[in-house]
Amino acid sequence: MTMKYIAPLLLFFLPIALQADVVDGLIKGYQAGGAGDFSAKQGAEAWKRLVPHAKSGQPRSCGDCHGSDLTKAGRHAKTGKSIEPMAPSVNLERLSDAKKIEKWFKRNCKWTWGRECTAQEKGDLLRYLQQQ
Ligand code: HEC
Repeated sequence: MTMKYIAPLLLFFLPIALQADVVDGLIKGYQAGGAGDFSAKQGAEAWKRLVPHAKSGQPRSCGDCHGSDLTKAGRHAKTGKSIEPMAPSVNLERLSDAKKIEKWFKRNCKWTWGRECTAQEKGDLLRYLQQQ
C-alpha cells in the first residue's frame, strides 16, 4: 500500500486508539488509589441516578444536560446552550483529554450530586461512556 491509502486509515484509527489510552491511564490512576473492578453497568446506573438537590429538592441527573440519548446533542439545564454528543462513537473528541475529563467530572458531579465523584464512580462512568 502506498502512503495515499495509509494516511486516511491512520487518521481514522488514531483518535480511537488515543481514547482507549486516555481512559486506560485514568483507570490505572483510580486503581492505584484503591478503586477497582469497574463496570459499565454500574456506570450506567450512576449516570441515570436521580439525586435530590440539597437546596431545591429537585432531582438532578447527568442527563439533565447531556440528554438521554448520548449520540445526540444535549442541552445545558441552566444556560440552555447546546452540548455536543457525549458518545465517543459519534464525537471523536470525547474521552481524548484526561485533564478535560477530570475537570468536568469535578464540576458536574458537584452540580448533579452535590459532591465530587469517587474514583470508583469515575471508573464506572468512563467504562459506560466508552461503550456509547
Ligand atoms: C449542568 C449541566 C451538566 C450536567 C448536569 C452534567 N454535565 Fe457533564 N458536561 C457539561 C458541560 C457544559 C461539559 C463541557 C462541554 C462539552 O464538553 O461539550 C460537560 C462535559 C463532561 C465530560 C467531558 C467529556 C469529554 O471527554 O469531553 C464528562 C466526562 C462529563 N461531562 C460527565 C458528566 C457526568 C458524569 C455527569 C453526572 C454526574 C454530568 N457530566 C452532568 C455539563 C453538564
